[in-house]
Amino acid sequence: MIDVSALALLETAPDPLVIVDVRGHVTEANGAARALFPGLQNGRPFAFAIRNPAVLDAINAVLAGEAIRETEWEERRPVERAYYVRVAALGGQAARALLAFRDLSEARRIEAMRVDFIANASHELRTPLASVLGFIETLQGPARDDAKARERFLAIMQTQAQRMARLIDDLLSLSRVEMREHQTPSDKLDLTALIQQIGDGLRPLAAERAVTLEIAPCDPVMVAGDRDELLRAIENLVENAIKYGASGGKVLISIETQRGQAVLSVQDWGPGISPDHLPRLTERFYRVDVAESRDKGGTGLGLALVKHIAAHHRGKLQIESRKGEGATFRLALPLYQQGD
Ligand SMILES: Nc1ncnc2c1ncn2[C@@H]1O[C@H](COP(=O)(O)OP(=O)(O)OP(=O)(O)O)[C@@H](O)[C@H]1O
Ligand SMILES: [Mg+2]
Repeated sequence: MIDVSALALLETAPDPLVIVDVRGHVTEANGAARALFPGLQNGRPFAFAIRNPAVLDAINAVLAGEAIRETEWEERRPVERAYYVRVAALGGQAARALLAFRDLSEARRIEAMRVDFIANASHELRTPLASVLGFIETLQGPARDDAKARERFLAIMQTQAQRMARLIDDLLSLSRVEMREHQTPSDKLDLTALIQQIGDGLRPLAAERAVTLEIAPCDPVMVAGDRDELLRAIENLVENAIKYGASGGKVLISIETQRGQAVLSVQDWGPGISPDHLPRLTERFYRVDVAESRDKGGTGLGLALVKHIAAHHRGKLQIESRKGEGATFRLALPLYQQGD
């Protein structure tokens, strides 16, 4: 047995910890371990709670005299999870072993995200780049003396190069917001003036898509924020509503204030988004219809950026939509407080 203070120490550890005696029977286990192994009981073999051969081997090796053994334990059911397991000999007359489990799921998830992100970014760059290279070749060869074809190819190359430039811009903006995540922006900004400015900038796009861009009349609303970031976030919401909701014919921007927050809404009456896509919409590179978005020059980074910018401002992005009934994107931002 271990003394009371050691037991208390065991109990406060966030990671699952189990002590087994020389027969492999559980003598102590902390709360985290009991949560991880519902079948675990003091005085009974630990092998009843876990059937993984690598872990059981490690325990046997330590109980047979080894000082330390490390291994990994992965499970697919009932949920997918992975643990790093460290088995260490505890001093004393009879051999005992301390088992410590560290959850690897989070680290694995982040690693998978990183790999995915690089694959996605490279893929998004590769397509326009291949197209530009292809046209350069054509211009150097078969179309060398064809003035008309040259004009057309150069125009396509320009569009593709602009797409790459935008992608890189968006990636840099994302990493910039991430880098400043711990500094909450605090400039005093008038949200009403900001949306007027954004509306003016996007009216040509709206006209091109036959969309009426309406801004609900509103008094100045002061928020604490970073002007560039908010411009970018709101611009993307309005641009999305125009691009993807064009069939609705109208986009409405409005601001309300409630409970210390300014809530900006961008509403369209287009095709809307079905519920199975909603939760993933703010993931990087996620698009409902990849071909449609690409066609419109999109990279699927816009909403990821909006979500990050909202979080940076201690605000929130909320999406409400039903298929066939348009979509409303709400950005809640803290109001500017005297003394901020
Ligand atoms: N108002 C909307 N109505 C319907 N679908 C939308 C709307 N806004 C966004 N979406 C869907 O969400 C996807 C992700 O939007 P997001 O802004 O992140 O990327 P994007 O617009 O495709 O590319 P980018 O913003 O980088 O130009 C879009 O591709 C589109 O499928
Ligand atoms: Mg967008």
